[in-house]
Amino acid sequence: MRNILVTNALPYANGPIHMGHLLGYIQADIWVRAMRAMGHDVTYVCADDAHGTAIMLRAEANGISPEQQIANVQKEHIRDFDGFGVHFDHYDSTHSDTNRARASEIYVKNREAGNIAVRPVSQLFDPEKGMFLSDRFIKGTCPKCKAEDQYGDSCEVCGTTYNATELLNPKSTLSGATPVEKSSDHYFFKLPNFGEYLQKWTRDEGRLPVSIANKLDEWFEAGLADWDISRDAPYFGFEIPDAPNKYFYVWVDAPIGYMSSFENYIKTKRPELNFDDFWTKDSDKEVYHFIGKDIVYFHALFWPAMLEGANYRTPSGLFVNGFLTVNGQKMSKSRGTFIKAETYLQHLNPEYLRYYFASKLSDKVEDSDLNLDDFVQKVNSDLVGKVVNIASRCAKFINTKFDNKLSATCAEPELVQSFIDAGDSIAKAYEAREFSTAIREIMALADKANQYIDEKKPWALAKVEGEEQQVHNVCSVGINLFRQLAVYLAPVLPTLAAQVQEFLKLDRFDFASAKTALVDHEIALFQPLMQRVDPKAVAAMVDASKDSLAAAAEPVKVEKKKEKKVEKKPEPKVGEAEIIGIEDFMKVDLRVAEVLEAATVEGSDKLLQLTLNVGEAEPRNVFSGIREFYQPEDLKGKLVVMVANLAPRKMRFGISNGMVLAAGNGEGVWVISPESGAKAGDKVS
Ligand code: MSP
Ligand code: ZN
Repeated sequence: MRNILVTNALPYANGPIHMGHLLGYIQADIWVRAMRAMGHDVTYVCADDAHGTAIMLRAEANGISPEQQIANVQKEHIRDFDGFGVHFDHYDSTHSDTNRARASEIYVKNREAGNIAVRPVSQLFDPEKGMFLSDRFIKGTCPKCKAEDQYGDSCEVCGTTYNATELLNPKSTLSGATPVEKSSDHYFFKLPNFGEYLQKWTRDEGRLPVSIANKLDEWFEAGLADWDISRDAPYFGFEIPDAPNKYFYVWVDAPIGYMSSFENYIKTKRPELNFDDFWTKDSDKEVYHFIGKDIVYFHALFWPAMLEGANYRTPSGLFVNGFLTVNGQKMSKSRGTFIKAETYLQHLNPEYLRYYFASKLSDKVEDSDLNLDDFVQKVNSDLVGKVVNIASRCAKFINTKFDNKLSATCAEPELVQSFIDAGDSIAKAYEAREFSTAIREIMALADKANQYIDEKKPWALAKVEGEEQQVHNVCSVGINLFRQLAVYLAPVLPTLAAQVQEFLKLDRFDFASAKTALVDHEIALFQPLMQRVDPKAVAAMVDASKDSLAAAAEPVKVEKKKEKKVEKKPEPKVGEAEIIGIEDFMKVDLRVAEVLEAATVEGSDKLLQLTLNVGEAEPRNVFSGIREFYQPEDLKGKLVVMVANLAPRKMRFGISNGMVLAAGNGEGVWVISPESGAKAGDKVS
């Protein structure tokens, strides 16, 4: 038996749980249930991530205290997780005394070990709001390409990264005021002290998916930098020990929330567990964090370094999920695919989604798509058509003709044994988080079971005199096969499993309990187990998600409203732009280009990556800031016009070799395309 502590990423306390979140939470919950079904002792904790500027401002916008804000959201989060059968042993908040104490302790230990530095940082300060502005609360004109309305860290148009202080004409998005530069002391965690340690740590067996470790190597090559861990008041968080008015940046105490949630769990619910047993450096217990791919850096660099610096053990492994798209695209409020957990639960059975996710998930860091048509089809054909069907075809005979008793001997010991034997490989697949493999194996068994019943036709036998024993035998075998399937599916479908357990009158439903056939065993009256997915309910859910647009966006609206106050330098009207000579214009080499490939760019909402044939030997790579207006498939195969002699620009995501022309008026963007007849490489003048 293994002793395992499992955590999920702590959701921010400023928004509702949605389908994207659920991918990782359902994944972890299935794993926890599967490991328990294999007999391991697993503790599963989570908490709300309650700190930070965003939550502070959200509370302000709602006219309540941050404490009230996080309490409200926590209630909703717990309700939603519960609704999906994501069953934590303990659900806490990072805004707890336990977490405050633990965060302080870890910080002080790091300070004593020489891992903290203090130095002044000059930052933009909003004189109206009286607070320092993080990059996302500053917008201005890009110092490089002069694009307007760019955030304080990087330009979404040309990809240049810069300091907020370099923005031209900067404005606070909170008040619209022009920020002033102001210096204050900041506290830094000296990440470079852990360079060698981390480089080895990330390569330890089982610690990280290899694809992630490879990505981190780029960071190591670029060199690690000190991490700014302090924020000046006003900030909703924990004050740093011996540093009045300085607060821990939210990402300092957030992962520490894993520890403090576990600690509070022990204190309140399971005193026989020992905190130090799990967190001391030479612990033989296992600790796993399930996280999404966007937060890997925090978990694979800062977190182990902070723990190592404070002399704690580090996680045994990080399990990383990719992102969820719905119907092949980023979740969208206008399309009704930004589906909140709450909305889903008003229309559909949560086990449908658990099954669908399970059928897609593996140990790879791959994005998954929730295709709603496929979802209906798969759940109906697999769960209702194959699995549940077995029971409903056999149970009624046992109930009505055989006094609820299964036959005294198993008529098909080999067949039943083959189902029992399959359990090992299914368990292994679960353990390795190869859920899609587990599901495939279970469904292959379900096919086999249905085949058996189809061949034996108990409903036909039942009409033949003298075949009672045969009917009894066949249906008893069918129920036994069904029982194996239900046990194997239990980690994915806990509610269904509980119903089956009751129907079969079994005390245990773990994997080890299903190693022998049930004979001469009494069962209960069969009750319908699962309804088909009604496509109308799916449509209604999508509709309701469209309706919830206003509500979901509401708190953001306040920020938006204020944003409007920011005076934008208007686009020059026709005829107002600077006059240039023809020789200036002739410098621009405009060409027709064919879009060979178009793809979204990981980490950017604004960019598409285009592979363009401009009639040269090699295609060009161009990043274009049109993601909000175009899907990759809209552009593929299209002819566009590009500036072919623009100096290559190094962007965060790679090198951009040219620019695609598009018309824009602040409301939309329209890529310029030549009339048919033009060919890639043609000059445009
Ligand atoms: N508060 C941080 C985590 C702190 S952990 C010490 C955070 N919160 S979050 O609410 O933004 O995200 C919670 C989890 O949901 C993260 O693992 C994140 O990767 C995941 N996802 C959020 N949107 C997602 C999708 N669209 N698809 C898949 N996972 C997604 O990050
Ligand atoms: Zn720019």
